[in-house]
Amino acid sequence: MNIIASPEDMQKTALALRRAGKRIGLVPTMGFLHEGHLALVKLARRQADVVVLSIFVNPTQFGPNEDFSRYPRDFERDRTLCATAGVDIIFNPAPEAMYPAGYSVYVEENGLSKGLCGASRPGHFRGVLTVVAKLFNLTQADVAVFGQKDAQQVRLIQQMARDLNFPVTIVLAPIIREADGLAMSSRNTYLSPAERREALCLQQALQTARRLYRAGERDARRIIAAMKAGIEPVPAARVDYIAIVDADTLQRVQRIETSVLVALAVYIGKTHLIDNLTLPENGSSNLPG
Ligand code: PAJ
Repeated sequence: MNIIASPEDMQKTALALRRAGKRIGLVPTMGFLHEGHLALVKLARRQADVVVLSIFVNPTQFGPNEDFSRYPRDFERDRTLCATAGVDIIFNPAPEAMYPAGYSVYVEENGLSKGLCGASRPGHFRGVLTVVAKLFNLTQADVAVFGQKDAQQVRLIQQMARDLNFPVTIVLAPIIREADGLAMSSRNTYLSPAERREALCLQQALQTARRLYRAGERDARRIIAAMKAGIEPVPAARVDYIAIVDADTLQRVQRIETSVLVALAVYIGKTHLIDNLTLPENGSSNLPG
């Protein structure tokens, strides 16, 4: 396994691999890897000759009051996990190398990024799209794998690849969960034992939505109200949003008629957690029960 820190070296290596006819698979991450990330590596392995996993806690996607400086980092542990998972190249640039003095170009999206997490985290998706565009150029990826856990993010990346003509295929990976159903996230390490138990309210709300949907309910407002009612009594929980949106346009719907995304974001204490379910179900949520 090769470890590359310099963006110039990454691009040179990638261009040489491309010239040698290799198919490059990219798994972008912010590190502190868990089974969710490793499932993406497995998918990339199947579709590419060379798997590049990037580890970069991207400063431009964190707001001024967010957790950039305390975001968990453990390169040695990540390196061991990557070696076992069959990663060929770890790309872990320094922030100053990705955003040198005088840096001034950003990717902005003007529709899909406005709602859901974009509403409570202004500038977040501008940072995500900018860094992912840079990673596409640096790694010359033929295929890039993203998790359904961040459903709005992957929808935006598909849109960017289409609108800016990146020659990359976006592959979507289902949500990987802990044994009790909590969606895996590097941020779960912030939770105290009590908060960790209360964090189950996110998936329980999605189970409520699924139960109502299976019983024939199609009114989005009624489903959202039932989800909210389950979360409100949880002491550490504060709802950021609960939304039922068209899976393609991410616009809110009143009735469930197309394929929709039931998405929610809840603060458990100070930790912002997200989860989602596609209806009709397509297996991408892996919701227990
Ligand atoms: P990060 O949160 O580290 O996630 C990296 C990738 O892993 C994303 O595609 C995310 O959707 C996926 N992932 C995280 N938890 C998952 C889970 N439980 N199941 C399946 N996939 C999961 O998302 C980012 O980093 C950043 O925004 C990034 C795209 C790297 C840009 O900086």
